[in-house]
Amino acid sequence: MTVAEKADRTYDIIVWGASGFTGRIVVDYLHREYGNGNLSWAVAGRNPAKLESVVGSRDIPILTADSHDSESLNQLVQQTRVILTTVGPYARYGSELVAACAEHGTDYCDLTGESLWMREMITAHQDTARDSGARIVHTCGFDSIPSDIGVYFLQKEMQARHGVAARHIKYRTKAFKGGFSGGTIDSMMAMMEAGQKDPTLLKKLANPYLLNDNMRGADGPDRLSPYFDEDFNAWVGPFMMAAINTRVVRRSNELLGGVYGENFRYDEGSLTGTGPKGFLGATGIGVGSGLFAGLASLPITRRGLQKVLPKPGEGPTPEQQENGYFEIELRAKHPDDESKNLVANVKGDRDPGYGSTAKMIAESALALAHDDLPVAGGFWTPASAMGDALLERLPANAGVTFAIVE
Ligand SMILES: NC(=O)c1ccc[n+]([C@@H]2O[C@H](COP(=O)([O-])OP(=O)(O)OC[C@H]3O[C@@H](n4cnc5c(N)ncnc54)[C@H](OP(=O)(O)O)[C@@H]3O)[C@@H](O)[C@H]2O)c1
Repeated sequence: MTVAEKADRTYDIIVWGASGFTGRIVVDYLHREYGNGNLSWAVAGRNPAKLESVVGSRDIPILTADSHDSESLNQLVQQTRVILTTVGPYARYGSELVAACAEHGTDYCDLTGESLWMREMITAHQDTARDSGARIVHTCGFDSIPSDIGVYFLQKEMQARHGVAARHIKYRTKAFKGGFSGGTIDSMMAMMEAGQKDPTLLKKLANPYLLNDNMRGADGPDRLSPYFDEDFNAWVGPFMMAAINTRVVRRSNELLGGVYGENFRYDEGSLTGTGPKGFLGATGIGVGSGLFAGLASLPITRRGLQKVLPKPGEGPTPEQQENGYFEIELRAKHPDDESKNLVANVKGDRDPGYGSTAKMIAESALALAHDDLPVAGGFWTPASAMGDALLERLPANAGVTFAIVE
């Protein structure tokens, strides 16, 4: 598929899953910010009545297809340059769509955090996507854009200021406010259920280089117990997205030709403060995550959790999204001179999972549709496909900023 052939398609972007909780927020954002006629886009899903209620009186074309009907997906993806999909759990609903995009040279971005599924998709469709020119980019939401673009930003700064790559970057969440949607909980439960049925999957998930094709590095397993981090002068507990984000950053290093270095190290954690309160906070996160994973992996307790947690289609209210935020601090170590270490922060002006995520995936789709990106067909990460484009777009349009702390 040549650039000229892609340009002939009816739409720049189709939002697939527009009737879902996150899909609706994406639709509102695109309409509010880009609804002036310069963007040719449509919404799509399986239920026309639901899609009509999403669109309301707005002039947005509606298309229908079904996740498990490949013929309908083949027709859908050939009408657009980019598919933006919020239909998840992706391992349950997303495989045929990736196959269709890879086959027909359609660019694609999603919000998956299902790393085993990503590995499966890369292995199955990488060659087809390279041949057709389809650029497939997973993890274009809170996982893993702040991590992946944060590291890309900090490594660029280290190169620009000191002419070297940082040998180790630490990502620590400082503060955030937000909630979960039923779709996200469904995706987490689906992963736990799969792990309980086939324990070998848990071993695969623990592989720090799960998403790399060939390159390995110096990182070991994720750290799950609390520890005191001298660099931040605070206690650190596990961060629930670390098992996804760290794999994405390591894949970026491989796809960017190893610019972060062969022995580059990267880890993530949650800052919980100093003293006994900090220690208890870090311990509490570890215990809480372990408890949730334990309850979610057994059928009987999983059903109990599903009763009390948000259902698919539900999530934080507009006020909770508006009042939400996130702040992350990243510290980069110079290879041999501590005085040249750098600190950066990444901030978002909405709740991480939905308000900010919807803006991040929308800007990713726009970058794929309109920006001059340095990559051809294949399976990319946000940083490797559109690092520079997102460093411009996210602060300018999406309230997500990347800054060096001087
Ligand atoms: N990475 C991140 O930071 C991040 C943030 C937010 C969400 N997510 C992920 O995004 C996904 C969506 O979350 P959500 O809360 O928006 O979910 P949701 O509200 O449950 O929406 C799911 C969407 O999938 C559609 N769908 C389900 N089965 C389908 C089928 N057979 N054919 C076509 N469409 C189908 C639903 O259509 P109907 O309306 O017709 O049922 C709905 O539009 C989840 O996997 C979640 O984990 C990730």
